[in-house]
Amino acid sequence: MSSQIDHLLNETRRFSPPEEFAAQANATAELYDQARADREGFWAEQARALHWHTPFTQVLDWSNPPFAQWFADGELNVAYNCLDRHVEAGNGDRVALLWEGEPDGDSRAVTYAELTEEVKRLANVLLGLGVEPGDRIAIYMPMIPEAIAAMLASARIGAIHSVIFGGFSADSLRSRIDDAGAKIVITADGGYRKGRVSPLKPAVDMALADRNGSGPQESVEHVLVVKRTGNEVPWREDRDLWWHDVVPQASADHEAQPFPAENPLFILYTSGTTGKPKGILHTSGGYLTQAAFTNRVAHDIHPETDVFWCTADIGWVTGHTYVTYGPLANGATQVLYEGTPDTPHPGRWWEIIEKYGVTILYTAPTAIRSFMKLGRAIPKQFDLSSLRLLGSVGEPINPEAWMWYRKIIGGKTAPIIDTWWQTETGAMMVSALPGVTETKPGSAQVPLPGISVDVVDDDGVHVGNGNGGLLVIKEPWPSMLRGIWGDPERFKETYWEKFEKQGFYFAGDGARLDDDGDVWFLGRVDDVMNVSGHRLSTTEIESALVGNDAVAEAAVVGASDETTGQAVVAFVIIKESYLHEHSPEGLAGTLRAWVGEMIGPIARPRDVYIVGELPKTRSGKIMRRLLRDVAEGREVGDTTTLADTAVMSVISAQVK
Ligand code: WT7
Repeated sequence: MSSQIDHLLNETRRFSPPEEFAAQANATAELYDQARADREGFWAEQARALHWHTPFTQVLDWSNPPFAQWFADGELNVAYNCLDRHVEAGNGDRVALLWEGEPDGDSRAVTYAELTEEVKRLANVLLGLGVEPGDRIAIYMPMIPEAIAAMLASARIGAIHSVIFGGFSADSLRSRIDDAGAKIVITADGGYRKGRVSPLKPAVDMALADRNGSGPQESVEHVLVVKRTGNEVPWREDRDLWWHDVVPQASADHEAQPFPAENPLFILYTSGTTGKPKGILHTSGGYLTQAAFTNRVAHDIHPETDVFWCTADIGWVTGHTYVTYGPLANGATQVLYEGTPDTPHPGRWWEIIEKYGVTILYTAPTAIRSFMKLGRAIPKQFDLSSLRLLGSVGEPINPEAWMWYRKIIGGKTAPIIDTWWQTETGAMMVSALPGVTETKPGSAQVPLPGISVDVVDDDGVHVGNGNGGLLVIKEPWPSMLRGIWGDPERFKETYWEKFEKQGFYFAGDGARLDDDGDVWFLGRVDDVMNVSGHRLSTTEIESALVGNDAVAEAAVVGASDETTGQAVVAFVIIKESYLHEHSPEGLAGTLRAWVGEMIGPIARPRDVYIVGELPKTRSGKIMRRLLRDVAEGREVGDTTTLADTAVMSVISAQVK
């Protein structure tokens, strides 16, 4: 690993910003100077680009760390900022969403005026159902305009949304609805994925089924359902409502009320190092400020001329910040695509870019690598010349994929920004500024203006150029998480305890500084995996595995994978009785499917190895590092701390 990184750090290719790009860029080098001279003043200025019903007089309140407040005495309405103000400025006819369904020919353009009207109607429906500020609304939807409207309607009335990725199972949905105590669930009958109907409402019904009395069925009063695919769905007359029966009929008069800047906006569940997902809590004014600012300077949004496309699903933070809130706050026009990249044909994305003249594409390295595998002939069939800026997010982008992205997709001219951030940070933290920064394949490079990051050793001491360590954030930032829903202790413990003395936020990522001081991300240092840019917890998958009757013990590791970055690899010990009745292949297949059902298809292990024992220290801790060696086909590292040093040779033999 480390020699590989040394090799990467010798990367000498540099790409200076094309002059044409620099001449029109929103970002300037002065932004760094301004932020350095007066950090809080800088953020206050960015916040003032929003509409405030009541202007703020305070910027940052950090008197009770790690609980920050930004712009606390100001009041705003997030949805008003994303909708009404553009209509009032005379831009109601501008297209907000260029929606493309997965089935060919299924498309719809939604203007700002239309989206505003739909959100107002939906806000009235929700109010009629008794939703009050602070109530939670769970959203479990495909990528359709109604999903964006649902998020914005929740924001408009001061409720808190919790979007749950449509690929999550009924069980995952159940625990998230339950943890948040959601009052309303907004869903669809189904969505289209890979040419088929993927049902959603049936999963909601399963999630809300009464199991031994307590559960989310207690808190959920209504389920609002969009008819998208027409599949049969179970129905409960006293609880379920069709969107088309109630939303079009509702009044389109709704005046957005002001809410305090620190009013919670959403909860988004993400995997941590334990089996229980964390509900990351974000609030309004600071979040929207940084979402809009980064979309303006890093994505270089010019709302009059650009067609932006962030390919993330709204079930992830990237979809919250760079599909819903950032671009809409800036009044941009964007593509929203329902389906998968390869349906109905492998050139679907490039066809969409050609069709809509997409100018800015923001996607994940895993997608780029799978397109690379398919070959350049596919994108070459389409006119991609409208693209002027490319972005990457979710995991480190290897220089080879970076170069392919530049040459084949970006026509050798479009700048590439590699943007590092997390569900917890709410918006981008480390990224080049296009038009300003000279870019370097493989490195996320520099903190954004107003953001203060460092790479430190275990004692919190700056490592210096040429060295590796842990990534920390040294000062509070506007879009930072405000906590973990219902668990302030876990919030402190997870992010703030490690560098309590220094007051640094610990991100959980390893990183290195090169000789220029640019940041290179090296992946997680905890038991969190990153598969296709999606965060998964090893412990969560292990608990799912041991929940199967056949499994006695399980250990899960993230092994490097050519396409997905990391892949889930499981080592399981099967109970004697099952071993006699089933073949190892049969068991492995069953367990892969089991994890898919328990958590969702993204968590399904690539490989399941049936082994006789697991490598443990004398204190009983599983040594995942050694299993990772096996999974990646390497020679097994130092085994001296194992309770039984012979166990690794047995496992290696069993895996081959
Ligand atoms: C983790 C956060 C940010 C939205 C998508 C993922 C990894 C993210 C990069 C990047 C290297 C990256 C980190 C981080 N990560 N972007 N540009 N280079 N690593 O959000 O699920 O909260 O995961 O993704 O390991 O901690 P998330």
